[in-house]
Amino acid sequence: MSLSPTIELSSGAHMPAVGFGTGHISRADITEVIQAAVRLGYRHIDGALSYGGEDLIGAALAQPGGPPRSELWLTSKLMQTQYRSDEQVAACCQKSLQNLQTDYLDLYLMHWPVVLQSDPKDPTGHTPYRHPSTGYFAADHQSGVDLVDTWRSMEELVMAGKVRHIGVSNFNIRQLKAILAVARIRPAVNQVEVHPYCPNKWLVEFCRDQRIHVTAYSPLGAHGQPRVLDNPTLSEVEVSADITPAQVVLTWARQRGLSVIPKASSPSRMVENLNTSRKLTPDQMDQINAIPTRMRVYDYHEEWGLAPGTLFGDSDVDESADDPSHNDNH
Ligand SMILES: NC(=O)c1ccc[n+]([C@@H]2O[C@H](COP(=O)([O-])OP(=O)(O)OC[C@H]3O[C@@H](n4cnc5c(N)ncnc54)[C@H](OP(=O)(O)O)[C@@H]3O)[C@@H](O)[C@H]2O)c1
Repeated sequence: MSLSPTIELSSGAHMPAVGFGTGHISRADITEVIQAAVRLGYRHIDGALSYGGEDLIGAALAQPGGPPRSELWLTSKLMQTQYRSDEQVAACCQKSLQNLQTDYLDLYLMHWPVVLQSDPKDPTGHTPYRHPSTGYFAADHQSGVDLVDTWRSMEELVMAGKVRHIGVSNFNIRQLKAILAVARIRPAVNQVEVHPYCPNKWLVEFCRDQRIHVTAYSPLGAHGQPRVLDNPTLSEVEVSADITPAQVVLTWARQRGLSVIPKASSPSRMVENLNTSRKLTPDQMDQINAIPTRMRVYDYHEEWGLAPGTLFGDSDVDESADDPSHNDNH
């Protein structure tokens, strides 16, 4: 069993650089999948209350014979319905702590920079309301919530010892700047979509300058079209570097200084994804950087009734979108 190398956050804490993504895993499968991932060496588990299986992850991790809590890095994410007050944020975090059977989270993230309406049928208010005609979650455009105030509620969780690090997810440069302007505790991490079709170059550079670590989610871009792993440039690199396409993509992200959180179902893929120790040459990195295709897997702006560019920048996957020198909005 090999463990992932770690990256050092601005706090000095070490986070395993290859984590295990737990989105899109059915409740029927999640216990077995988590137990396999931990047995094979994953020590960083990326989850969210909204993924639905957090309680089963907690139960799987609590089984005898597993690694002690001190060796695990547990990340969870605040439900977008619960951004409105200190009380909501604290209660939502408490639910994840209870689910994961732990008294602290290593990292807690604001999941998206958008507030969702709560389903009135859920007394906790956690569950987002699905619009009956579209089946989409409904953004709460009347919430009046300032994301900076939610950030202050996140800071309270650190003060209370409930979480060790706080961060954000899917935040663009403008939103990060607003938080940085007032933060008593700066975001440790921004978790965003990154793969060769969505390199997020300017956002990654901005975060590097601000000592905000970037975690690449959907690092294989596997649920999008066109399929990242089918790209012919990757096949060329794969042959010359003697590694698999998934390892090419994960190693490319790692060599950019990012952590990655691939999800996989089979033990062989779990091991493959954990092993990103082979180095790509500068030429191989350049070859991947030069791939012109742009595609985002996760973009809910239409679903949430937002104008194009509101979430990520002027153009969904245009490199210039997050470049402050190209965009007055930032
Ligand atoms: N913060 C956010 O808003 C956000 C959004 C999306 C995702 N995430 C996080 O990021 C994690 C990963 O994202 P994701 O699940 O969308 O995408 P991903 O990890 O890029 O891709 C997962 C898919 O790739 C397949 N796969 C895994 N290893 C492979 C390999 N070595 N070769 C070929 N195919 C392989 C998996 O298939 P099998 O399962 O069949 O093996 C699965 O269908 C999520 O689980 C979640 O934790 C966060």
